[in-house]
Amino acid sequence: MSDNVSALSGRKGLDRNLFEELVKEGKKNGTPEPEVLRQIAKDFLIGDSITYGASTFYDFLKPENKQIKAYICNGSVCMLAGTQENLKTKLLEHLGEEEIGHMCCLGRCHENGSFYYRGENYSGKSDSEIDEIMQGSAGKNKDQYFVGTNMAEPILTAPFPDLQEFYARLIKAFSRDPEKLLQEIKDSEVRGRGGAGFKMSFKLESCKNTPSDQKFIVCNADEGDPGAYSDRYLMEERPHLVLFGMMVNGFITGASRGVLYIRGEYPESVSAVNLAIAELEELGLLGDNIKGSGFDFRFKVIEGAGAYVCGEETALLSSIEGQPPHVRVRPPYPTQEGLFNKPTVVNNVETLACIPYIINNSGKVYAGIGTGKSSGSKLVCLDSFFNRPGMYEVAMGTTLKEVVNELGQGFKQPIKALHIGGPLGGIVPVHKIPDLTLDFESFAENGFLLGHAGVVSIPENFPMIKYLEHLFEFTAAESCGKCVPCSIGSVRGMEMLVKAQHEDYQIDRKLMDDLLETLEVGSLCALGGGLPLGIKNALQYFENELKPYFIKN
Ligand SMILES: Cc1cc2nc3c(=O)[nH]c(=O)nc-3n(C[C@H](O)[C@H](O)[C@H](O)COP(=O)(O)O)c2cc1C
Ligand code: SF4
Repeated sequence: MSDNVSALSGRKGLDRNLFEELVKEGKKNGTPEPEVLRQIAKDFLIGDSITYGASTFYDFLKPENKQIKAYICNGSVCMLAGTQENLKTKLLEHLGEEEIGHMCCLGRCHENGSFYYRGENYSGKSDSEIDEIMQGSAGKNKDQYFVGTNMAEPILTAPFPDLQEFYARLIKAFSRDPEKLLQEIKDSEVRGRGGAGFKMSFKLESCKNTPSDQKFIVCNADEGDPGAYSDRYLMEERPHLVLFGMMVNGFITGASRGVLYIRGEYPESVSAVNLAIAELEELGLLGDNIKGSGFDFRFKVIEGAGAYVCGEETALLSSIEGQPPHVRVRPPYPTQEGLFNKPTVVNNVETLACIPYIINNSGKVYAGIGTGKSSGSKLVCLDSFFNRPGMYEVAMGTTLKEVVNELGQGFKQPIKALHIGGPLGGIVPVHKIPDLTLDFESFAENGFLLGHAGVVSIPENFPMIKYLEHLFEFTAAESCGKCVPCSIGSVRGMEMLVKAQHEDYQIDRKLMDDLLETLEVGSLCALGGGLPLGIKNALQYFENELKPYFIKN
């Protein structure tokens, strides 16, 4: 059924896009009106259940959020930093309780106190500044954070050259044989930065070898992991690295359309990327037969509407198609049947941003940076608990100790653990910091996950049980509902943890272990499947702290 809907949505495709229609209608009155949903369904020849299901899924579209004017970030760092209660009290001076909602996460983890209001994000504001924002004074939405590196020649954070100069060298790539460019990507050994660490060249080769009249390059810019704001950095400060990366992937695979799916929680990123695309147009580097190369390429920016699960690549494709963002069963893989059932390569923002360096310097030079199996550099985000919060570029293989103590300059207050790699990453107790290096292998061998490498610090005085409850609650709220282990299991886990804290109840460890195993092996995607990692780390390393909440053996 959803294959048919993909094809029907694909008839109008990206130019009259079903999802965009829903979002546009939602923006008028806070949620699309029922008769409008029925009309859109009719126009696209799809059932009402599709437009209804999609529009009731997203934070920015659901009818119950219609009246919400300000969304407070309830991501892990803002919660741990304890800034949000005061923020809410302050906002209540200007808005009614029913006009304030929640959103996760705004990527302002370096200073917290984050909220979204009238299409812009704010963070780290004093009470008087909040008064000014609510009264409509503009220009306060920009944030500042430290950007640093320990690399002599950084790849992603190097000063950006003049735009013409940047493209003059790179555009020559389109006179080369696509096979040769693919070979450069193969030589670079670059692996996906979005979480799974899959080799980029595998996907490109698979898509290239799948015959089709149309193919797509999709940039996954749905960075929703609390603690991570590196994709936001790239989109706002280095958008041309990403755009050129997508064009190269289009050239290699034979795709002529690039879609950037940018989360609605990052309005500033949407504007920055649109501006960069306009710059490309002005330079005559988009459209048909770019600079006489015979290569055609165009971009489309799609703004998300508030759903963490849309970062999962198949849910993201369903979202672009205007379907409810349910995860798809694989195979077929997106490189075989992706957007509108056409071969599609989905890559993370940071993965794509590595391509200009690879093309300029060769895949082999790129592969020489890092550890071999984990080549290149990695962007790491440090939260507000560090003495020097910010975003750092490090060569893969850099010790975590150097990142924490030298780049981040240590912690402002006692910290007991770092949750690295998002809500599905591992919880690293501070005594394990010296054992880890920043690369896929080191984290996996030690029972953790590098993921997207956002770092969330858990303070000594924050109860671990409460943090675990937050993780289950997050998964329960963000589950797409497609599979039972995740949609039901996350709620059951949350209930156990809540009861253990507030009622005369202790958790049966066997029951918890069964639940974690069911989630791990039975979930369709890494939302349900990845949740147990951090929980298990906490049960192992914080056994003493958690003991009172469990039945004694
Ligand atoms: C629940 C969930 C959320 C995800 N969120 C993101 C995301 O925000 N950005 C991202 O690039 N990948 C995310 N991923 C991973 C993607 O499914 C996919 O692996 C990635 O976009 C592939 O790009 P890469 O190979 O360049 O890493 C998520 C996965 C899951 C299961
Ligand atoms: S694990 Fe959760 S998010 Fe993933 S498919 Fe199952 S219900 Fe959906």
